[in-house]
Amino acid sequence: MGLPEERGRSGGGSGVREEAGARSRARSWSPPPEVSRSAHVPSLQRYRELHRRSLEEPREFWGDIAKEFYWKTPCPGPFLQYNFDVTKGKIFIEWMKGATTNICYNVLDRIVYEKKLGDKVAFYWEGNEPEETTQITYRELLVQVCHFSNVLRKQGICKGDRVAIYMPMIPELVVAMLACARLGALHSIVFAGFSSESLCERILDSSCSLLITTDAFYRGEKLVNLKELADEALEKCREKGFPVRCCIVVKHLGRAELGTGDSPSQSPPIKRPCPDVQISWNEGVDMWWHELMQEAGDECEPEWCDAEDPLFILYTSGSTGKPKGVVHTVGGYMLYVATTFKYVFDFHAEDVFWCTADIGWITGHSYVTYGPLANGATSVLFEGIPTYPDTSRLWSIVDKYKVTKFYTAPTAIRLLMKFGDEPVTRHSRASLQVLGTVGEPINPEAWLWYHRVVGAQRCPIVDTFWQTETGGHMLTPLPGATPMKPGSATFPFFGVAPAVLNESGEELEGEAEGYLVFKQPWPGIMRTVYGNHERFETTYFKKFPGYYVTGDGCRRDQDGYYWITGRIDDMLNVSGHLLSTAEVESALVEHEAVAEAAVVGHPHPVKGECLYCFVTLCDGHTFSSTLTEELKKQIREKIGPIATPDYIQNAPSLPKTRSGKIMRRVLRKIAQNDHDLGDMSTVADPSVITQLFSHRCLTIQ
Ligand code: PRX
Repeated sequence: MGLPEERGRSGGGSGVREEAGARSRARSWSPPPEVSRSAHVPSLQRYRELHRRSLEEPREFWGDIAKEFYWKTPCPGPFLQYNFDVTKGKIFIEWMKGATTNICYNVLDRIVYEKKLGDKVAFYWEGNEPEETTQITYRELLVQVCHFSNVLRKQGICKGDRVAIYMPMIPELVVAMLACARLGALHSIVFAGFSSESLCERILDSSCSLLITTDAFYRGEKLVNLKELADEALEKCREKGFPVRCCIVVKHLGRAELGTGDSPSQSPPIKRPCPDVQISWNEGVDMWWHELMQEAGDECEPEWCDAEDPLFILYTSGSTGKPKGVVHTVGGYMLYVATTFKYVFDFHAEDVFWCTADIGWITGHSYVTYGPLANGATSVLFEGIPTYPDTSRLWSIVDKYKVTKFYTAPTAIRLLMKFGDEPVTRHSRASLQVLGTVGEPINPEAWLWYHRVVGAQRCPIVDTFWQTETGGHMLTPLPGATPMKPGSATFPFFGVAPAVLNESGEELEGEAEGYLVFKQPWPGIMRTVYGNHERFETTYFKKFPGYYVTGDGCRRDQDGYYWITGRIDDMLNVSGHLLSTAEVESALVEHEAVAEAAVVGHPHPVKGECLYCFVTLCDGHTFSSTLTEELKKQIREKIGPIATPDYIQNAPSLPKTRSGKIMRRVLRKIAQNDHDLGDMSTVADPSVITQLFSHRCLTIQ
């Protein structure tokens, strides 16, 4: 295996050159020497040594890292025990079982008292409006978290309880999640873009006893009355026989009414004229955050948790349609996000880090909150969107806070590319050192634009492949070590042992294409699906016993680089977010006009992939633009705006096999007007296909 660096590119600068080898025509980019010089991992050789050690001696490798953290009691028994093989019994993974700690203590108290970084800024908060800013130090954050932990305790929240959080990107969101962690209660954060129905479903699935939300917020120009959605969700929970006993509400848009000092995050009053958001109030259930905080005490002893105690639940789409509650645990997750953050972004004390992801997704959990804080980093917490008030917003924030490491999604890059270079080059961006991407494969065109325009050709790009389930990065370059190929997530992180399997489950060597799996556990791997361990085993371990199955396909090239080729199940990746086709289909058939629905992915220039829906109507209903609007509304209400389809096509019938299975493979081809349908011997009625081709949607609706 000849790697680019070994083939000898001498000379300075981040250069481009043609790769030898006909198969992968990809060019490779060497890490800039000025980055390598000060990097934690300064060469590919050093990466390889560390990676080899992490696999051969995982207990020692992670044991050394664990020494950096505070443990109330050390690990009494084996550092790692696991079973990855369903044929040998129950799947389980235990890192440091029996050791006790608290992740909130480690990311706040340890940073303030042991590292003496109490006065360091933990977050620069930038609101939806550029003038709405504030900052919060580690010490201030600790005080807020202790206060709010006491609030939760007073409301009866104990270790093991589940708390739902439904909030925009404001400092109180971080405070709320860390307060749960301090008490050993599991936070279940639901992205504020999800519908009330989705929130209700998640509250019920993990029987959350308390909800924390916000009055309202702006996303760009759009006002979101979050409390109204939260009320609807709680009403639905009540109807289903599960009354949530307490709802704590942050006054965010209404902050201006609060006197200074009442605002827990020290956020300045919201400057944007705030229309009267009508908040309905349920006496006995609803409570204002600021009122509870005023009464709360300063001291709060953390709850000491087992390393294997659950830390949080985060729901991700499942191919059966019902979201899965991914469970991460205290000790392993802490080690893994702290370590990936340090090495993948090559973190140094003076860095200002900015991950644009919402905390409602795993990227926000791991790289807005836990990973940066565990390293004592200063981060930006951004409430707004990249195009408001104009398309240069991200770069003006980069200059404002002198951001050094910047992490975003390919969909954001593709969106901004459309507006040309000027909104970027208008700002200096001189502080930037490392750029990152996550969530979906990045097309080389977007990679090259990100590198050339945003990074001015001097910043390495870390294309990080990982999942909600993995807790942290799995395949990724290291900025000072890995020669990059645009579109490849390159090599495994420490502790990660990837393999490529064929359909029969055989490991393929060298250049190969197949199923991406992992052979041994890393500390950040999920431990179960909340309340359904069998689903955990079936989804990730049944298909190929002995391996964790990612659900992604991949190709390994002649240099050993991994290229993700996309999902191999019925999941779609829209703007970096996984959606289940089954979930969208069930939202469609709930409409009285729809008898049957089939949803497939379709290429989209900005979102990467979008939804193309085929619907068969019930007798007596006609297909019209009013109906497509109603169906879109239905999906928004059932799931949320991210699942809004771009295309809805009338399908008098759907192509099926003789055994009655919908042929999605064929539907994907119809959506793309690709008549090369392959083997059609199993289709029951070929005339259906001709009919669908002639009625394709030609434009986004
Ligand atoms: O298909 C892969 C894609 O996103 C999926 C995981 O989605 P989710 O759990 O929502 O987490 C997203 C953020 C970590 C993966 O199974 N994916 C994620 N990152 C990449 C990617 N595909 C290609 N390249 C990536 N860098």
